[in-house]
Amino acid sequence: MKSRVRPIVAQMHGYVPGEQPRDRDVVKLNTNENPYPPAPGVARAIVAAASDDLRLYPDPGGSLLRETAARVYGVTPDEILVGNGSDDLLSMLMRAFVGPGDVVVYPEPTYSLYESLVTIQEGRVLSVPFPPDFSFPPALQAAEGRLMFVCNPNSPSGTFTPLEVIADLAARFEGVVVVDEAYVDFAAATALSLLAEHPNLVVLRTFSKSFSLAGMRIGLMFGHRDLLAEISKVKDSYNVGRLALVAGVAALEDYAWMERNVACIVATRDRLQSALAKRGYDVLPSTANFVLARRPGEDQAPVQQRLRDSGVLVRHFPTPRLADALRITVGTDPEIDQLLAAL
Ligand SMILES: Cc1ncc(COP(=O)(O)O)c(C=O)c1O
Repeated sequence: MKSRVRPIVAQMHGYVPGEQPRDRDVVKLNTNENPYPPAPGVARAIVAAASDDLRLYPDPGGSLLRETAARVYGVTPDEILVGNGSDDLLSMLMRAFVGPGDVVVYPEPTYSLYESLVTIQEGRVLSVPFPPDFSFPPALQAAEGRLMFVCNPNSPSGTFTPLEVIADLAARFEGVVVVDEAYVDFAAATALSLLAEHPNLVVLRTFSKSFSLAGMRIGLMFGHRDLLAEISKVKDSYNVGRLALVAGVAALEDYAWMERNVACIVATRDRLQSALAKRGYDVLPSTANFVLARRPGEDQAPVQQRLRDSGVLVRHFPTPRLADALRITVGTDPEIDQLLAAL
C-alpha cells in the first residue's frame, strides 16, 4: 500500500537510497555535516563502553548525559530530554501534540521534516513564506495552532531570527513554540535564555553539526519540566543507545574542541561567501555551517549535476522558491577550494 508521505530520506537529504556515493570518493557538502573529527575523548569513551555491558539496555532517561548537559548549559537535568538525534525529538513533539486536523505553524522554506511529520499525524500545516530577506514573516506573529516551529538559524537560508521576535511569539502563541537550534553554535545567540520566562517554549539541539557526531544520533530537548514530562510519555523507552550516551557526555566534556572547530568553519564560511559573491552569486548572510547561494532566475539543477560529476556534492531544492539556489555546506579549506575550482 502506498504511504501518505513522500520519501522522507530523499526529501530531506537530497539523495535516493542506494544512490549515495561513498563518502571517501567525493567532497560531501550536501548534508551540513562537520568536516572535522569529534573530540578525541569521544572515541575513547565509545571504546571503553563497547564492553560486555552492551548486553544490557541503556539508561532510558540518559541521566549522565542530562546531568552533564545541565551543567554545561546552566539548567537542571529535569529540564532536558535526550533523543536519538533531534529528528527523534521532533517526532516526539508531533506525537505528543498533533492529531488529525491540528494546526502546525512555521515560516517556509525551512527544514522539510516538519511537513513530513505533520502529514504522518494527519495534522494541517499553516505556513507563511519568508520575505526575500528571510526576516520573520509578521503574519505568523498572530497565528494560532498546537505547535510553531522556528528553525534558528534557519535551513536552508542560514538566516537568524532575533531572540526578541521569538520571545514575542512565545508570549502570544497559545501552543508550544519549538526553536530548532541545530545550527546555533555557528550563530551568536541562543533561545535557551528565554526558557525561564516562557513555559511553552522548547529548544532543540543536536550533536550532529557542531559536535561532529551525526553518525552517533544524539539530540537534546530543553524546556519546562512539566512540559517535558508530558512529552516523555510518547518517548520510546530506550531511544538512545549506550554508545551514543557516552559519546554525548565525552563531547560535552571537551566543549573547547567543538568551539575550535566552529571557529575554523566560521572563518571558512566567510571566505566561501566572498568567493561566491565574486562569482556572481547572491549570498544570504549565513549564521550556520552552510551557505545559500542564488543566481536569480537561473535553475541550479544542472550546476548541481555538473558539480556532482566532478565529485562535489551540494544540495539543490527543486521547488519554485529555491530552484535558482544551491545550499553548500562549509567544508575544510581544501574542500572549499575544490568546490570553487569546480564551479
Ligand atoms: C534544522 C534541522 N533540525 C534537525 C536536524 C536533524 O538533526 P539530527 O541529526 O540531530 O537528527 C537537521 C539535520 O540536518 C536540521 O537541519
